[in-house]
Amino acid sequence: LFRSLDWELLEADMAACRACVLCERRNQAVLGAGNPRADWMFVGEGPGSEEDKRGEAFVGPAGGLLDNMLTALALSRHDNVYLANAVKCHAPHNRTPEAAEIGACLPYLERQIALVKPKLLVALGRPAALALLNTDVNIGAARGRRFDYKGIAVVVTYHPAYLLRNPQDKGKAWADLCFARRLMAEQTSSGAGT
Ligand code: URA
Repeated sequence: LFRSLDWELLEADMAACRACVLCERRNQAVLGAGNPRADWMFVGEGPGSEEDKRGEAFVGPAGGLLDNMLTALALSRHDNVYLANAVKCHAPHNRTPEAAEIGACLPYLERQIALVKPKLLVALGRPAALALLNTDVNIGAARGRRFDYKGIAVVVTYHPAYLLRNPQDKGKAWADLCFARRLMAEQTSSGAGT
């Protein structure tokens, strides 16, 4: 009961948020999607126009590719995966959110992570990595490393929208997800996070 109340308060705060300019042209703020008790949590960039319309994360073309990647790992947003974004409001023309906007939205992401308590975080693209690691990483250079967010393992990989434009890098993203799966297996076998 208290848990669902926490989520309701978070949603209400977010819906009323005016912390940055992205609030001015959103249809609605989008918190996330998937199972809020998941072990896996993926963090993207921000809602696209489809997400802004429907109020759910990753329901557009990038979400379709992400769902296929999850299926290949025998995962699903309906089961053991929660999906969030670095920023909760759609940016006009899908521009990349600025560091200050990511910073303004970070308290929402932090509360989300604290509520989900995932065993592993996957940062999809540079804005997500900036939000989780507080560093501007180059995805190509950060791949294959285990980062840390408050004791939770973090893996960095390409954003699915990037992969739609650069399908030649899909193999690398698959390798990154396999690396993430190995880290997850270690978390589970060592009993960490339980
Ligand atoms: N891209 C993202 O980063 N997040 C979404 O929710 C949709 C597209």
